[in-house]
Amino acid sequence: MIFKAIGTWVVNSEDEMRKLAESFAGFITPGTVIAMIGNLGVGKTFFVKAFCNAVGADTTSSPTFAIVNSYLGSYPIYHFDFYRIKQADELRDVGIEEYLADESAVSFLEWADLFPEVLPKKRLNILFKEIDVSSREVIVEQLG
Ligand SMILES: Nc1ncnc2c1ncn2[C@@H]1O[C@H](COP(=O)(O)OP(=O)(O)O)[C@@H](O)[C@H]1O
Ligand SMILES: [Mg+2]
Repeated sequence: MIFKAIGTWVVNSEDEMRKLAESFAGFITPGTVIAMIGNLGVGKTFFVKAFCNAVGADTTSSPTFAIVNSYLGSYPIYHFDFYRIKQADELRDVGIEEYLADESAVSFLEWADLFPEVLPKKRLNILFKEIDVSSREVIVEQLG
């Protein structure tokens, strides 16, 4: 993981969010786990899809109800959503530890704050906050 440019951004449109995700994609290297935190509708899935698009991964055929979706672009991307998970064992049963340990892949975890016990110490957090209908604050933190 070489990404150091942690900070805060305010984006005022979907297009700006897409551009932010694309610029992230230029810095993130395989082996990175990205924990995404923020309320429903704030743009977590939007960000993951824009990131995937930027690395040549097609996300269009993925079921929205899955615990984890895998996409293949320049490298594999594992996309978890903890929203409907009731207990951490459901995540362990699908093999989350193996997914997150895959140094050849990038993992995104939506609603990561619901199960902090499964998160690796070394990760990025991306916190999303809604400012208004089209504006978002995006805070990136590097942990571990
Ligand atoms: N600046 C913005 N960035 C991201 N999404 C935005 C923005 N402005 C409006 N939206 C809308 O907000 C919604 C975000 O939905 P989604 O990404 O599914 O949220 P989440 O995964 O956080 O629940 C989408 O309908 C998107 O069109
Ligand atoms: Mg989502």
